[in-house]
Amino acid sequence: MTQHTPTGDLDPFFVFEFRPIDEPDEHDPDRRPSTYWDLERGCRGPHPLPDWVVTDRGAVDTDLGTIKTGKEADVLLVRREATDGSGHTALMAAKRYRDDRHRSFHRSAAYTESRRARRSRDTRALDRKSSYGRQVAASMWAQAEWQALCRYWEAGVAVPYPVQVDGTEILMEFVGDDGLAAPRLAQTRPDPDVLGHYFEQVRDAMVRLAAQGVTHGDLSPYNVLADGERIVLIDLPQVVDIVANPQGMDFLLRDCENICRWFGARGLHVDARELFGELVSFAV
Ligand SMILES: Nc1ncnc2c1ncn2[C@@H]1O[C@H](COP(=O)(O)OP(=O)(O)O)[C@@H](O)[C@H]1O
Ligand SMILES: [Mg+2]
Repeated sequence: MTQHTPTGDLDPFFVFEFRPIDEPDEHDPDRRPSTYWDLERGCRGPHPLPDWVVTDRGAVDTDLGTIKTGKEADVLLVRREATDGSGHTALMAAKRYRDDRHRSFHRSAAYTESRRARRSRDTRALDRKSSYGRQVAASMWAQAEWQALCRYWEAGVAVPYPVQVDGTEILMEFVGDDGLAAPRLAQTRPDPDVLGHYFEQVRDAMVRLAAQGVTHGDLSPYNVLADGERIVLIDLPQVVDIVANPQGMDFLLRDCENICRWFGARGLHVDARELFGELVSFAV
């Protein structure tokens, strides 16, 4: 009796598995089709698109590794490759909000005075701390950061270009070189001239935020990346309205103090109160 194999009676020598190399390999869990064009328009980044953004409809995403795991989010390095033969590839940072985080969205009341969950089902789920509730909270943080990135990138603030948001995951410009993430400002020991240049860029970003009526809300040398000569502000889900939020001024002052303390300790003559006063004048 002949044995029935998927290849019938063919000599296995002549049988090979056909898989076009440009197709995502569904067996590789780290490789998947890009969801860029499946998303609603508002979930794709603002125009004009930087030329490094891969918009090929057949593009494939691959996780290349973890940049940082945190209590609230994990940040991974993701490569997006076009499969249209253009050879276009881009590295992106994927910030994935965890839905098992301890901090729930509505409990961080100070940050969210003017940003409440609208759907009552969502509000109840947040209260119950159900897994659905945690999922809602994670997506709300992702949405909040997404909107901040889009709005302030368009206002010319030095933040990573936001490529897309998909549920609890934001894909954004990877700040770094050759797959190596830029260090946080806190990890750097810049020369005096670079130090002054860095401060001017942080100040400029704060001024642009203030002119939009907001402050970062969690600004510190840990949420500023030093990419060579360039400074980039990250981690913006909790951006605070300086005037509408009753604690807006406190957040603004704290952001100024955190930044000036670090630059001051490295020998730059900067004054938090002076910076605060200057930013207030832009905000009102
Ligand atoms: N766009 C990015 N490019 C390169 N590295 C990034 C980027 N975004 C975040 N990171 C890295 O991931 C870390 C955590 O990101 P962050 O947004 O600060 O999240 P959280 O502090 O909430 O965990 C950062 O300190 C930085 O090292
Ligand atoms: Mg951070």
